[in-house]
Amino acid sequence: MAENHSEELKSQQHSSHRYSSHRCLAFINQKGGVGKTTLAINCAAGYVQMGYRVLLVDLDPQAHLTTSLIDSSSVDSSQAASLERISEFTIEAALRREKSIEECIFEVPEEGFSLVPSDINLSAAENDLYQELGRELLLKDALAKLPKDRFDLIILDCPPSLGLLSLNALVAADDVIVPVQAEYLALQGMVHLREVVSLVQQRLHPQLSCRVVVPTMVDLRTRLSREVIDSLREIYSDEVTNTVIHSRVKVAEAPSFGMSIFNYDRKGPAAQEIANLCQEIVEKLGIEAPALELG
Ligand SMILES: Nc1ncnc2c1ncn2[C@@H]1O[C@H](COP(=O)(O)OP(=O)(O)O)[C@@H](O)[C@H]1O
Ligand SMILES: [Mg+2]
Repeated sequence: MAENHSEELKSQQHSSHRYSSHRCLAFINQKGGVGKTTLAINCAAGYVQMGYRVLLVDLDPQAHLTTSLIDSSSVDSSQAASLERISEFTIEAALRREKSIEECIFEVPEEGFSLVPSDINLSAAENDLYQELGRELLLKDALAKLPKDRFDLIILDCPPSLGLLSLNALVAADDVIVPVQAEYLALQGMVHLREVVSLVQQRLHPQLSCRVVVPTMVDLRTRLSREVIDSLREIYSDEVTNTVIHSRVKVAEAPSFGMSIFNYDRKGPAAQEIANLCQEIVEKLGIEAPALELG
């Protein structure tokens, strides 16, 4: 009886499976310290709250995303017997095709999302992989091997450069999300980033969409923050999200506890802000409702 019921539920879930494939979002800005990694973790957690199945991929050899999720031992202990295993099953191994990307997926049960970790060896891999034919397609090819219905959203946390790893992210992504710190020299580099995106669109990936700019670390009490947001809206008009991410102590603290803002301060204003942003991005990009949402 129980079995029948669960079969029925499974088939109901299956029939409401509207996803043919995952949607891949690249969080990219070649400037360091603009809030990419923090935003990637928090948005991943925000999308989990909305019912999406999310995979986070750390593409930065500095591995801040991996460190801030794994140092707290928040990775499922049954899967990751030790941190050693994580150092073997990384995005580097997947890009080198020594491991399948599926083998490199770790669950982060506290957050409800999955993670492909990174470490410093990715830096050497980036150099080695320059020699490969089709070197910009390595990540796309690796992700293409994932079962199409395993994740609804894949979030790529890019390194602070526009080298081969970022190019791989742009080729693998459906959409580009550009976090911009509301600070002095914020717009520096944006022209170059847009040129690279446009070259990728022309030569490698015509469907790549780049229409979301997110102001981060905003302090509206300062004139500078307000001016940067005004300039962003002037140049990028409705690409700039209405929801801006404010600078908040709790957001900066959360990673040191290995937590997203939803775990660290669920009811606080920062979590609400991320929830609003996640919703706004879904609407802006026309991302379908979570695949397994019933009713
Ligand atoms: N909304 C925020 N409020 C306060 N501090 C933030 C916020 N977003 C990021 N930070 C802090 O700024 C620093 C850089 O953020 P990070 O996400 O690592 O940037 P990136 O990935 O672009 O290098 C980190 O110390 C992080 O804790
Ligand atoms: Mg980062």
